[in-house]
Formats: sequence, structure tokens, C-alpha cells
Amino acid sequence: MTECRILVLLGAPGAGKGTQTTKLVQKFRMKYLSTGEALRQKAGEDTLLGNQARESMERGELVSNELVAQVVRDCMTDFRDSTGFILDGFPRNRSQAELLEEIAGETPIWVINIRVDEEVVITRLSGRRHCVECGKITNVNFSPPRQEGVCDTCGAKLVQRPDDFPNVVQRRLQVYREQTKPLTDFYSKKGCYFEVDGNLDTETVFERISAHLTGEESLAGNPHLSAGQSSA
Ligand code: AP5
Ligand code: MG
Repeated sequence: MTECRILVLLGAPGAGKGTQTTKLVQKFRMKYLSTGEALRQKAGEDTLLGNQARESMERGELVSNELVAQVVRDCMTDFRDSTGFILDGFPRNRSQAELLEEIAGETPIWVINIRVDEEVVITRLSGRRHCVECGKITNVNFSPPRQEGVCDTCGAKLVQRPDDFPNVVQRRLQVYREQTKPLTDFYSKKGCYFEVDGNLDTETVFERISAHLTGEESLAGNPHLSAGQSSA
């Protein structure tokens, strides 16, 4: 069995982290954590931490490192039982990167930075909708549903994430530039870092990430992961 590794997907809001995570999980059967998804769940709870998370997310700010650490530790308890564990949206600052090193121990951390232009992000996020029932994500700017506001898959209502409203997107981008983007320097110096052009279409981005993971893009062709490998 291939050695377990942690795969960090870095990138601005709307870079395609969630989209690529879904495809990688299907192809490589890796486990994953999206801190955004996990925190949206917490934000739905009427608790002190839930309310704090919701307020931060609605403003486009980062949620406290303490709550994020709790979520990450809870979800990563058995990460070594898989061929790989994908982190979508974590770490987002230096302190979270240090926490990840502590959790990872000897497990290698591979970082994929999905680089994307801000104009592209703004178009993508203004058009993103998700289904309230099945959760399917669609984009009214690129692949509009057959009936406006209605999910093609299950017929339920399509809604917009509250943090995708233009003023909040601007704040999320600013937070990304100030707190998360510096991590690209931190990781590129460690040599476990790969950049992909996220402005390209979804399939091309996925092919490039997959080729990197399987070693197909290197002359040596040293395979790191096999498609469909069991995560047992
Ligand atoms: P989170 O949910 O992680 O949001 P984000 O990082 O801002 O990223 P998004 O989910 O908006 O975008 P994405 O990169 O996943 O893109 P997607 O694939 O959906 O976090 C939300 C909030 O939670 C944060 O603001 C913060 O408050 C809090 N939080 C989360 N993690 C935290 C942490 N570690 N610490 C503290 N706080 C934290 O794609 C976007 C759209 O584009 C979709 O419509 C998709 O269909 C489309 N698309 C994707 N790729 C392509 C492509 N290649 N071509 C064309 N369209 C594409
Ligand atoms: Mg996402």
C-alpha cells in the first residue's frame, strides 16, 4: 500500500478547491475535510461557538484558530488509515500551518496551490448556487439550470451562499491576500509544493493535479498514488 500523505489544497475563494476535492476523492478514494463545510455546520448550531463562527463567516473573516483546531483534530483522528487525506481550506494562516505539522508528525504534507485570477473568482462566486436538498453545486454563469432557481438533479430550491454576496467576496479576497497567500512562500520553500493554473477548465485542472499525484508529469514516472486505490 502506498504510504499515507496529507494533501493540502491551497487557493483563493472560488479557486476550485471544493470542486477538485470532490473529483480527487472519487478517483483516489482519499478521505477529506473541508473546513468551510464543517464550519458551516457548526454555524448552524445555536451555541456560543456556532454563533461566533456564523458571525465571522458572514463578514468574510476567518473563524478563530481555536474552533478550527477543534474541528480539524476531531476529523483527523484516523487519517493514517487512508492512502491520503485531503484538506480543503486548511491551513489558512501560519498558526494553522504549525498545527498541521504537529498533527501530521512524520506523514508527508503535499501542497497543491490552485492559482486563479481575482476577476475569474468574482465571476465564479457571483454565479455559484447550491441545492438546499442534495447540496449539488451549480453555476448560473457557466451552466445554468434548466429551470431558474431549481436543482436539475432533485428539483429542490437553489440558493446562494451568504458569503458569496459581492461585498463579502471582496473581504474574503482581502483576508486571503493578507493571511493565506503568504503560506505559498512557506510551503514552496519546503519543496512539497505544486502550482496549477486554476483559471483553466475543471477537467484540465484535475488532469494536471492527478498527473502530479501519480508522478506522470515527471520524467522518472515514479508513481506516488494509484487511481482507485483502496483507502483501507
Ligand atoms: P470555504 O467554504 O472554504 O470558502 P473559500 O475558501 O472562500 O472557498 P470557496 O468554497 O468559496 O471556493 P472553492 O475554492 O471551494 O471553489 P469551488 O470549487 O466551490 O470557507 C468559507 C469560510 O469558512 C471562510 O471565509 C472562513 O470564514 C471559514 N473558514 C473555512 N476554513 C477556515 C479555516 N481553516 N480557518 C478559519 N476560517 C475558516 O468553485 C467555485 C465556483 O466555481 C463553483 O461554482 C464551481 O462550479 C466553479 N468552478 C470551479 N472550478 C472551476 C473551473 N476550473 N472552471 C470553471 N468553473 C469552476
Ligand atoms: Mg469550497
